[in-house]
Amino acid sequence: MILPIYLYGQPVLRRVADEITPEYEGLTELIENMKATMYASDGIGIAAPQVGVSAKIVYIDASVLADTFPELAEAKYILINPEIEVIADGKRLSREEGCLSLPGIHEPVMRTEKIHIKWLDENFTAHDEIVEGYLARVMQHECDHLDGKVFIDHISPIRKQLIRNKLNNIVRGKVNCDYRTKGVAKK
Ligand code: NI
Repeated sequence: MILPIYLYGQPVLRRVADEITPEYEGLTELIENMKATMYASDGIGIAAPQVGVSAKIVYIDASVLADTFPELAEAKYILINPEIEVIADGKRLSREEGCLSLPGIHEPVMRTEKIHIKWLDENFTAHDEIVEGYLARVMQHECDHLDGKVFIDHISPIRKQLIRNKLNNIVRGKVNCDYRTKGVAKK
């Protein structure tokens, strides 16, 4: 089922999400709904808070970007309770990011593109990997959502000032995008 995307300004996006246990009710259905919602809105990653559920679940399928970033050809992940550690010797790069919860906003974000990530998959099997390049950025962006953060938290106050009107419109639910959204007011 395709769910509405919760927009910037919705409190669920600012909460630290809850850890998932194997007893979590409706986990399979929630993951399926997150996938359907992400594909319907042409995203490459989605976090459960973006569909209004404060839970530590991320789905990533960045394979659509494999033409530009060949390492993404197989980049499909279900991340449950992920934990990221930034690796200090990784190079820091500024690249443009966007977010389904912030339609129409694209800003360069400085991040280290080398991380150590641990997570559980949908069968609660533990994984532990060093990830580099664009995928490391996508993972950091999505896992930020589980800590109540969005990508514009990483931009300078001046950049934020420049997009203030756009942000105010998003908070009011006044957005122009071709997927269903949930903001303060209905369009
Ligand atoms: Ni996002």
